Amino acid sequence: YLDPEFSAAVIKWQKQHGRHSLPWQQTQDAYRVWLSEIMLQQTQVTAVIPYYQRFLQSFPDVFALAAAPSEEVMAHWAGLGYYTRARNLHQCAKQVVEKYQGKFPADTTLLQQLPGIGRSTAAAVSAFSYGTIAAILDGNVKRVLARVFAIDGYPGSKPIEDAMWLRAQALLPQQDIEAYTQGLMDFGATLCTRSSPSCERCPLQARCLAFAQQRTAELPVRKPK
Ligand code: ADE
Ligand code: SF4
Repeated sequence: YLDPEFSAAVIKWQKQHGRHSLPWQQTQDAYRVWLSEIMLQQTQVTAVIPYYQRFLQSFPDVFALAAAPSEEVMAHWAGLGYYTRARNLHQCAKQVVEKYQGKFPADTTLLQQLPGIGRSTAAAVSAFSYGTIAAILDGNVKRVLARVFAIDGYPGSKPIEDAMWLRAQALLPQQDIEAYTQGLMDFGATLCTRSSPSCERCPLQARCLAFAQQRTAELPVRKPK
């Protein structure tokens, strides 16, 4: 696999500078991890925290969520937006109870067949809950990869996205997948940000092509009109 120093740098940075006390980091319970990842798909961490906590108080496990009336689930989601997520969340809980006796599968292929769980969310849930070595690729990770490897082309296009998935898989570490996965998320969210990346304190600076070419403002390429 290509460049073991990339993952080593991300893991080391995560241990020193990443976030460690988010509520969903205190558990390996797949139900809690899954709930947090669905909420975090389109919502910022600070907005998610109170919803996550209220949700768990009312629905402490997947059985409680599956058995709840949909109006009650929707009421707990009210204000978070993207309500398809809440409907899928409820359907997913019911399927996990029916098909898997309430235990989320560790296999990312099986996870991806559940409502609301895409390839990246499946990888995150499996990595955080079961230590499965699988690649994530969300908007933050796309930005980091586009910059470090100077990937030209819009990351939302199929060929560029496919290339990024290959790259993300090739970069996976053999161990410490939890720290690596959280590190990539935190890295994109707090260091390699969209409009003002902190290149001067970035552990990937020496291997970042966008930095070397002074193209951090141009990458990732914006959506073509
Ligand atoms: N965004 C998506 N998943 C996340 C996580 N586990 N922690 C912080 N932000 C995230
Ligand atoms: Fe991002 Fe700058 Fe680090 Fe490159 S050097 S990965 S652009 S923060």
